[in-house]
Amino acid sequence: MKENTATLSPAPTQKLTTILDVKIDRFSYGKKAALRNVHLKIPENRVTAFIGPSGCGKSTTLRCLNRMHSQKRTKLEGQILFENQNLYDPSIDPRLVRAHIGMVFQQPNPFHLSVFENVAF
Ligand SMILES: Nc1ncnc2c1ncn2[C@@H]1O[C@H](COP(=O)(O)OP(=O)(O)O)[C@@H](O)[C@H]1O
Ligand SMILES: [Mg+2]
Repeated sequence: MKENTATLSPAPTQKLTTILDVKIDRFSYGKKAALRNVHLKIPENRVTAFIGPSGCGKSTTLRCLNRMHSQKRTKLEGQILFENQNLYDPSIDPRLVRAHIGMVFQQPNPFHLSVFENVAF
């Protein structure tokens, strides 16, 4: 007789490849640490969600992934590897990182331009 092997989620059929290897030891706004020891591997072609109470650091972590933080007022200790390359390497232009790794914001963020220019951009 055939055994019932149904599970709640389908078993992974392929080996997962890490696209982002996050190794944040500490991230701070000024002197205040907002993140400590955020170490995780994000696989490619999968949906990964961060869940946690307000203020626990979800948005801060997300912004670290594409260098969206102000470079003057924040400090990241650690590294984030995208396809095995550290996004925080001094030789890498943060604008290039942002062009590569997009972000959709919770609140709309129009530029200080006309509606036409915002839509065109
Ligand atoms: N721009 C900022 N300047 C100073 N502190 C901030 C800033 N943004 C977030 N924080 C602080 O960092 C911590 C994590 O916040 P945040 O990443 O927004 O959490 P979440 O997205 O999980 O609600 C909180 O203590 C918050 O007050
Ligand atoms: Mg948030």
